[in-house]
Amino acid sequence: MPADHTPAGALPPGRPADDVLAELRALRGDDAPTRGGRTFAYVYDAGLEGLDGLAAAAYTAYATVNGLDMTVFPSVARLENDIVAAVAAVLGAPGAQGTFTSGGTESILLAVKTARDHARATRGVTAPRMVLPSTAHAAFHKAAAYLGVEAVVVPVDPATYRADADAVAAAIDDRTVLVVASTPSYAHGVVDPVAEIAAAAAARGVLCHVDACIGGWILPYLRRAGREVPAFDLSVPGVTSLSVDLHKYGYADKGASVVLYRDAELRRHQYFAHAGWPGYPVVNPTVQGTKSGGLLAQAWAVLRHVGEDGYTALAARVADASDRLLAGLRATPGVRVLGDPAAGLVALTLEGPDGRPDLSLLLHLADEMRERGWYLQPQLSYDGLPPNLHLTLTPATADRVEDLLADLAAALKTARTLPPVAVDPALAELAAGLDPAALGPEEVAGVLAFAGLDPQGGLPGRMAPVLVLLDALPGPLKERLLSEFVGSIFRI
Ligand SMILES: Cc1ncc(COP(=O)(O)O)c(C=O)c1O
Repeated sequence: MPADHTPAGALPPGRPADDVLAELRALRGDDAPTRGGRTFAYVYDAGLEGLDGLAAAAYTAYATVNGLDMTVFPSVARLENDIVAAVAAVLGAPGAQGTFTSGGTESILLAVKTARDHARATRGVTAPRMVLPSTAHAAFHKAAAYLGVEAVVVPVDPATYRADADAVAAAIDDRTVLVVASTPSYAHGVVDPVAEIAAAAAARGVLCHVDACIGGWILPYLRRAGREVPAFDLSVPGVTSLSVDLHKYGYADKGASVVLYRDAELRRHQYFAHAGWPGYPVVNPTVQGTKSGGLLAQAWAVLRHVGEDGYTALAARVADASDRLLAGLRATPGVRVLGDPAAGLVALTLEGPDGRPDLSLLLHLADEMRERGWYLQPQLSYDGLPPNLHLTLTPATADRVEDLLADLAAALKTARTLPPVAVDPALAELAAGLDPAALGPEEVAGVLAFAGLDPQGGLPGRMAPVLVLLDALPGPLKERLLSEFVGSIFRI
């Protein structure tokens, strides 16, 4: 008998709005806090009274507006032009044009599409490549996979974690459509040598994208606050596009980024237009078709409210917190800060007496800090770069740096008393021989259960045993396991 797909019973009976809202709020009980400066990734807390309320009210005012058609809702063009003009005034150059997008990933996808289509139109490149320093954000690999562009990865300087401009230059060939620099990189928070990379690209007639997703709205204000910041934006010769996320150090709610180009002629390649169907003529500047005007409105309101002086004060607060944290970390035996963090992002590793990173201790430290209410983001080792814990500082942490350092010292002391977690070398060897593509769902489930990731049982309280195993696995197997794990979380 065919399944009964009548909707009756698909949803519980309707309930009063207050009830529904109360349930939503309760659902957040187990989430990491998004305010208060104790969650060091994912969230950006300006610590400004009333800012969340303003963003919510602005969102609500535009929640029902459809940004799909700016001829029907002309105010969305006005809001977007205001935002892009503000971003271009800070990070652009004369003639720059841009687009408001839903986030860093979408800005990057669009910049890569633009470079691909520009190279095909102007140079006849049909098998495109882009050169990525190994610290470039994973979003570029996603863009490569989605858009059929080959990612050519070059190592970064192992001492500074900055992109190596010579290595980038050497990797450019006739098929290269784009090279990338990060300001700063997410993983280590260090700023790449933009001028050198952009010059190498320009010398070969290749476009250069600056990924300022995380740094683009703090570095200029740090400069305004008197800190030394090298030129990194579209004013640098050879830089042809740039991404900056307003939902990071712009402190707008999630879903706000801008991608900027040197001129409209380049940006034209980003747009998708289609008239070959019987429906309305389509011109989509971004990936989405229908999109709420709410995200645009809240970002516009937050930018307008905080203003230039506000962002300068917030940047100074982050820099001051970062100075105090770095001094404390550098004075802690066994801790090594990676590179020269430029914009509030800090990556630290722990070293044993032999000077080698101590992964087990590092992961125990992360678990211990979590027990104490701080979320530090573990990052695994990659191509000789050490595993580390990542912190994204925001103004909300500024008053708690000393508490953080005190808890870190206590957590480290406890972590040192815990038995080390390690992977059985025989198991690591076995795993290295597995072909992820040939594994069936049951085998993957078996490996996941072995790793301590049982989706039915929820996440383990301590992540060290899981992460130490993941760290030892080859990349493709890691990717397969993690995809399977996330898929199992979203099983209905
Ligand atoms: C340098 C950099 N690029 C790109 C991204 C991706 O941005 P999103 O998570 O908004 O898609 C991030 C996010 O942290 C980032 O730090």
